[in-house]
Amino acid sequence: MDNFTLINGVVIPAVGFGTYLTSERDDGTVAAALEAGYRHFDTASFYGTEQALGDALQSSHVPRSELFLTSKLWKTEMGYDGALAAFERSLQKLHTDYLDLYLIHWPRTDDLSAEWRQLDHDTWRALEDLYRAGRVRAIGVSNFLPHHLRNLMESADIMPMVNQIEFHPGYPQTYTVEFCRKNNILPEAWSPLGRQRVLQDARLAEIAANYHKSVAQLCVRFALQCGVLPLPKSSSPERMAANLDVFDFCISDEDMDRILTLPQFGWSGLHPDYPKADS
Ligand SMILES: NC(=O)c1ccc[n+]([C@@H]2O[C@H](COP(=O)([O-])OP(=O)(O)OC[C@H]3O[C@@H](n4cnc5c(N)ncnc54)[C@H](OP(=O)(O)O)[C@@H]3O)[C@@H](O)[C@H]2O)c1
Repeated sequence: MDNFTLINGVVIPAVGFGTYLTSERDDGTVAAALEAGYRHFDTASFYGTEQALGDALQSSHVPRSELFLTSKLWKTEMGYDGALAAFERSLQKLHTDYLDLYLIHWPRTDDLSAEWRQLDHDTWRALEDLYRAGRVRAIGVSNFLPHHLRNLMESADIMPMVNQIEFHPGYPQTYTVEFCRKNNILPEAWSPLGRQRVLQDARLAEIAANYHKSVAQLCVRFALQCGVLPLPKSSSPERMAANLDVFDFCISDEDMDRILTLPQFGWSGLHPDYPKADS
């Protein structure tokens, strides 16, 4: 399973490289990720990493057609005109004339105003127009729960193709993942390693040992077997390679059941409808 295929036929490399908290200047991280084998990169205007990613990809000479680039518009860039302008800024920083995937980063702005329904409709209309114009190969959302998706679908002509959500052992969001699957939306996993919060867990260590793999590798494989596309981030070439080395084992049904029924742990504290919780 080297790829996922979206409902519109677009093919995505099955493990993407996360760029949140990588350097805002090209420091060799992206070159190392390319060397490790990554061709799918996840960024966002909010991360401040689009320019460094664009610069590094440009100097790598890997053909654009071999890359899969995702970016996202931030909460302050929502609305029809805001989304179109944000898209152009992202293209410029990434030194490209199209994106493979463009996402609305969060369904609601920081003030959690009641206006989010209309704001999402207006923002989505911009993404639909970009898609129709051939500026982006696929469009989707991030951090949308089923009620946010239902709202979008009420007015959408084109359904979201991807929903990027927090997903890892201890927080597998099974209800949202199932809702996505029923609606032909590919779920992607942000913080698939729980940003290290789950890596010391003794229960996961015991399961990972069954396969002679690290807990991080177990987490990446767990996402894949749930049909969720993982986006691990690393600054170390060894860990980048390890996170891709997950195609030579299969987690048993029993171990998948054990992971999926663990009590909640490792949650970031981020929920689209509420202020950040202590995690
Ligand atoms: N849509 C959203 O709202 C949203 C939110 C957050 C993240 N994201 C996306 O998802 C990506 C991944 O999430 P994330 O960066 O939050 O967390 P993550 O990928 O779950 O974890 C990254 C952390 O794990 C460490 N790590 C990586 N591989 C490891 C390994 N094999 N063994 C041990 N430690 C390892 C990294 O350290 P080193 O760097 O030192 O290796 C880093 O501290 C982001 O980069 C971003 O692209 C999206």
